[in-house]
Amino acid sequence: MNIKTELSTYTKRESFTTSLGVLAATLGSAVGLGNIWKFPFMTGQNGGAAFVLLYLVCVLFIGLPVMISEFIIGRRAKANCVSAFKKLEPNKPWYLTGVIGVLSAFLIMFFYTDVAGWVYSYIFKSASGVFNTIKPTETANVFSSFISGVWGPLFWQWVVLVVVSIIIIAGVTNGIERMTKTLLPILFVLLVICDIRALTLPGAVKGVVYLFKPDLSKITGAVVLSALGLAFFKLSVGMGCMTTYGSYIGDAENLPRNALRVALSDTLVSILAGLAIFPTVFAFGFKPEAGASLLFITIPAVFKAMPFGQIFMVLFFILSAIAATGAMISLLEVPVAYFTEQWKWSRTSATVVSAVIMGGVGVLATLSTSVLSKTLVFGKTFFDLFDYLSSNIFLTVGGIFICLFVGWKLGKQVILDEASNHGILNNQTVMSVFTFVVRYVAPVAIFIVLLSGLGIIKF
Ligand code: PFF
Repeated sequence: MNIKTELSTYTKRESFTTSLGVLAATLGSAVGLGNIWKFPFMTGQNGGAAFVLLYLVCVLFIGLPVMISEFIIGRRAKANCVSAFKKLEPNKPWYLTGVIGVLSAFLIMFFYTDVAGWVYSYIFKSASGVFNTIKPTETANVFSSFISGVWGPLFWQWVVLVVVSIIIIAGVTNGIERMTKTLLPILFVLLVICDIRALTLPGAVKGVVYLFKPDLSKITGAVVLSALGLAFFKLSVGMGCMTTYGSYIGDAENLPRNALRVALSDTLVSILAGLAIFPTVFAFGFKPEAGASLLFITIPAVFKAMPFGQIFMVLFFILSAIAATGAMISLLEVPVAYFTEQWKWSRTSATVVSAVIMGGVGVLATLSTSVLSKTLVFGKTFFDLFDYLSSNIFLTVGGIFICLFVGWKLGKQVILDEASNHGILNNQTVMSVFTFVVRYVAPVAIFIVLLSGLGIIKF
């Protein structure tokens, strides 16, 4: 077998070997910049605790059922996210759901690689001691001068793409699986250390109140849509990523239990990140609504305020880079699995073509903080547009079709078979509730949220 065929066979029907492996891989996709960067900054922009509450409701009642649905589709079809629909419903347009998924993977990568580049560069910035000589309150200047440059951010974005591509081409999913298994717990421990420091800063309590005391007057249709979009983005659902990973899950695994574990652990990581960031924001007088820059301003500030801070800071950014890389690998795997299985491309060509498109169009996102900052499309910079379109529109629309497909096309018997491993697991009651949710509750709720978020209906 030549290396190309070997690699494509490897990706094609590789499967995760243990339950822990399944959890590590799926959690490795979910945990990423969404937790440490997007969740805190969106919470800051959308009014704090009320947003967190909405987010939790969206995760449990919508995101989780969509994840279980994707696992069911993937494991039953054992194919990439487009072929899976074709296999289960031949000659019907359902496969377009998978096509939307592949497009979403590109849209997300356009801006995700930009932010991941910031994280990579912060490993070197913190190691070089840039933050040693400045006051905690000046970390904002370091960040804004970095992202308003052109070549620095572009360079790091491409470094990120090269790293992710090499891992995907080498097909070392196993290595990544093993790496995430060891490194995610370390990230967790470091977050707890940050939390302890942040929570003991003078004035920290305001940050905790901000995160946990809901002000329901902040909730609008657009805010609900953002919370729902974030839940999809966070859990990597609505776009075929969990369908692709589901196709690598063995027949003996407990799908609903794994999905629940991913949703809960992922949410815990987000809350821990929020607890590190908001107390710091208030302690040093930063603005909670600072937006995308929040992580890069507050984390250096919090580490500056502790002994051996520089070492912890470097470690923190290394682990964040690893978390981001785990998520990007799953994002790149979506088109690569599709191109190799459906179009019969080699794994290398599929990866290189996808990465070149991601890097090429991604330039627009990266330059949104410098030369293209005044170029607006529908009132948004390219960065914000890719972010908004992917999370709020593509993932949510994808989510509706995934629910409808599982609830109505596959139907109750298939759901019971897949979720109970053909009657071996005793979860019939929970699965009847699940069937009701994916048939009626989730699609209707997503649809209403979508219409109200877009301003088409008003309450
Ligand atoms: N869940 C990842 C994060 O929160 O960073 C982002 C992501 C990965 C979104 C994979 C979608 C996806 F398919």
